[in-house]
Amino acid sequence: MPLVTTKEMFQKAYEGGYAVGAFNVNNMEIIQGITEAGKEVNAPLILQVSSGARKYANHTYLVKLVEAAVQETNLPIALHLDHGDSFELCKSCIDGGFTSVMIDGSKYSYEENIALTKKVVEYAHAHGVVVEGELGQLAGIEDDVQVSEEDASYTKPEQVYDFATRTGVDSLAIAIGTSHGAYKFKPGQKPQLRFDILEEIKKNLPNFPIVLHGASSVMQDHVKMINENGGKMPDAIGIPEDMLRQAARSAVCKINIDSDIRLAVTGTIRKYFNENPSHFDPRQYLAPAREAVKEMVKHKILNVLGCDNKA
Ligand code: G3H
Ligand code: 13P
Ligand code: ZN
Repeated sequence: MPLVTTKEMFQKAYEGGYAVGAFNVNNMEIIQGITEAGKEVNAPLILQVSSGARKYANHTYLVKLVEAAVQETNLPIALHLDHGDSFELCKSCIDGGFTSVMIDGSKYSYEENIALTKKVVEYAHAHGVVVEGELGQLAGIEDDVQVSEEDASYTKPEQVYDFATRTGVDSLAIAIGTSHGAYKFKPGQKPQLRFDILEEIKKNLPNFPIVLHGASSVMQDHVKMINENGGKMPDAIGIPEDMLRQAARSAVCKINIDSDIRLAVTGTIRKYFNENPSHFDPRQYLAPAREAVKEMVKHKILNVLGCDNKA
């Protein structure tokens, strides 16, 4: 099976009330861990590459590794550019074999975002590639007294229909209180997502796939593993899994996970070296790290995303 776009995946996910995991990839072990998990539970997958990952690992290496994973697993896998910030970067990924790109124009004015996104959509669609746009800017919820100030960065439901129809995007990333990284909420703060905004968006833009960035739950067993083995991340807090499940049952068809992969890899390797200080063969510590990614991704598919047996 060749690489696929997200078109059919999202249609099935929307109708079935589940989401597909979009996992960030940077090297072979991460790609293997994710795709071996997908294979075991028969799940569709989105493997996404940031511009930083592309600089780190090289476009061709990543494409070839992902193609190898498709060949090994025979799963429907989409190769996606995460947070494309220019037409040129999107074009380069489209020309270089990606099946999906994100153009993140959320830092521009509304009209500039539309113009840039539309330009990418025209080029992508002419080449059989799908496009994710973004409206609103991700931010952590500060505290209840500052809600109106925070509202400025949430997606405005009244803009989503206009944005989607004028740009022609295939999916839309929104801001409802998730944020990137491992420190999403302050210690003692009650994690909250604006499901009221999600439902408004769904009403204004029916049957349209919504994307949730910044959706790692920051699994505490991995945070603990880091802290017990010489690391220092005591206040890392993520999005509760039941909230992600609720979003997946609604219009959210793609859930982005990167930090949970980083924590699984780092926790496992820290523990390995603490227990085996004299070892120096990279295979000895990369193999358990790959296994930890696999177990984490399987857990997400089965307990959060609900996309097992949907390949
Ligand atoms: O949303 C960003 C992703 O976590 C990718 O991060 O740009 O450090 O590769 P990165
Ligand atoms: P996390 O940092 O929550 O994993 O989010 C990843 C992401 O949104 C990638 O685009
Ligand atoms: Zn993101």
